[in-house]
Amino acid sequence: MSRNVTIAPSILSADFGRMAEDVSAVAQAGADWIHYDVMDGRFVPNITVGPDVLAAVGRATTLPLDVHLMIVEPERHIEAFAKTGAEYITVHAEATTHLHRTLQAIHQLGCKAGVSLNPATGLDAVQHVIEELDLLLIMTVNPGFGGQKFIGPMVPKISDARELIDSIDREIHLEVDGGITVANIAEVCDAGASAIVSGTGIFKTDSYSDTIADMRRRVASSQS
Ligand code: DX5
Ligand code: ZN
Repeated sequence: MSRNVTIAPSILSADFGRMAEDVSAVAQAGADWIHYDVMDGRFVPNITVGPDVLAAVGRATTLPLDVHLMIVEPERHIEAFAKTGAEYITVHAEATTHLHRTLQAIHQLGCKAGVSLNPATGLDAVQHVIEELDLLLIMTVNPGFGGQKFIGPMVPKISDARELIDSIDREIHLEVDGGITVANIAEVCDAGASAIVSGTGIFKTDSYSDTIADMRRRVASSQS
């Protein structure tokens, strides 16, 4: 089935010293969302940025802010991210004990709710909360760092996730994150992804606009 792909550059690979410029450059280059990776040094080994930097990113663009919380007990911090302009707040199923309650809390704060699954986590982790989902994020690397290699055996998991989402009579984005470049974007979109995150695959190229245009071309030609 042909669908437009939503492209969400991950600011993890942007130049942190000139974040506002990089965010507006990637927006002008044709990005759809800005993907914002939050890491706490506990759920994942790395530490990144919090809600104050999200507010600064929000001042640099009108694009929807897609917040990916790789933190333990995300329920303790969702209000701060909701207040600073997040459109989507995605939590890890592995990081919150009461996932259903956390998703409801995200909605009550006026945001769209997502769940992310580590490569080793099965889709059954979301099966019983699917009614609360606006986005399902399949990790195709172990979260924590940009620039890692795409885990190929995740492709059938993306197809299974597409089947699960299509069994629901409501739009839920199927997002894929980790190691996505122009070389494999068509493969993940063919498997059913509707949104892709790309950090190094966009920010470490010479022209953001050429790269994003190339990504769209490859998806379109493989689906035509
Ligand atoms: C990884 C993050 C990703 C990361 C992707 O833990 O969730 O969003 O920035 O970076 P690339 O595209 O370089 O794998
Ligand atoms: Zn991410």
